[in-house]
Amino acid sequence: MTDSVQPHSAAAQSAVLRHLPVLLVEVLRALAIEKNGAYVDATFGRGGHCRAILEELSDRGRLIALDRDPQAIAEAEKLQAQEPRLRVFRARFSELSQVVSACGLAGALQGVLMDVGVSSPQLDDPDRGFSFRHPGPLDMRMDPSQGVDAAHWLNSADEQVIADVIWRFGEERRARRIAKAIVAARPLHTTQGLAEVVAACVPRGNTRSTKHPATKTFQAVRIFINDELQELQQGVLAAFDNLALGGRLAVISFHSLEDRQVKHAFKALSQPPVLPRRLPVQDAQVAVRGRLISGPIRAGRTELDVNPRARSATLRVIERVA
Ligand SMILES: C[S@@+](CC[C@H](N)C(=O)[O-])C[C@H]1O[C@@H](n2cnc3c(N)ncnc32)[C@H](O)[C@@H]1O
Repeated sequence: MTDSVQPHSAAAQSAVLRHLPVLLVEVLRALAIEKNGAYVDATFGRGGHCRAILEELSDRGRLIALDRDPQAIAEAEKLQAQEPRLRVFRARFSELSQVVSACGLAGALQGVLMDVGVSSPQLDDPDRGFSFRHPGPLDMRMDPSQGVDAAHWLNSADEQVIADVIWRFGEERRARRIAKAIVAARPLHTTQGLAEVVAACVPRGNTRSTKHPATKTFQAVRIFINDELQELQQGVLAAFDNLALGGRLAVISFHSLEDRQVKHAFKALSQPPVLPRRLPVQDAQVAVRGRLISGPIRAGRTELDVNPRARSATLRVIERVA
């Protein structure tokens, strides 16, 4: 097979790339929106949650929307043009504090939403190279103007480094075998090429799983290329630090690595630190900054019937109390 990029059909290129917001009712309930409040939607995507938050706000309410993806930002700017309460920024989670400060809202937010991961338009657009389901260039960058694409990295990285990434970010037990096969098949240029190399590493007869054999490898490469876990960690802390007292942070994650990170960050914010016994401590050292609003929230049957992508979504919510 030649691993080269083929032009896409007009039908594929003009496909309607939609994104259904997940856990929408639950997010609005969790944020307990104050109509005159100031909010951040850190993941505009196609603006499903953003529009719903705007509907809850009065004329005095404000909403800042971020995304690192230029296509998402192009959509957000169209909405901004007709919506004076909305300000849009092309920025990463790790830049959230700068954006909020530039808007004069540092420490004054009533709520932040982070609906992390990739959007349906990113996954469904073959040219973005995120999915093994669509043949396309092996890119996977949420912001294609920054960093190196997946092809460049896979074609130049050491086998051991590739194996580590697939193991850590994909939790793929065949990581070593897959990394070896990738290096042997280089250069790789397409999503299809990578998917075929990975699929060939799965022994025949081991196909009972409904998941494509390349699912974990694609997830791992995407997380690495976009530095997603580091971004998430910085974003959660920046979002929490910018809440006013009583403000709430709602985070939706889509796989266990993300959810684990959110869970641990929320735990650290909502529990007093463990300090050595019998040593004098100051109140500030044992103060708890956050209160968990609920356990993990997942989509119900009605939503799953309409939007199967919601099946792996987990919502966690924390309120700032100090
Ligand atoms: C699941 S989608 C959000 C969908 C959105 N809530 C909606 O209703 O349309 C996730 C979005 O977050 C963006 N994103 C992911 N990581 C980001 C980061 N570190 N900084 C900024 N945006 C990020 C992606 O580009 C994508 O558009």
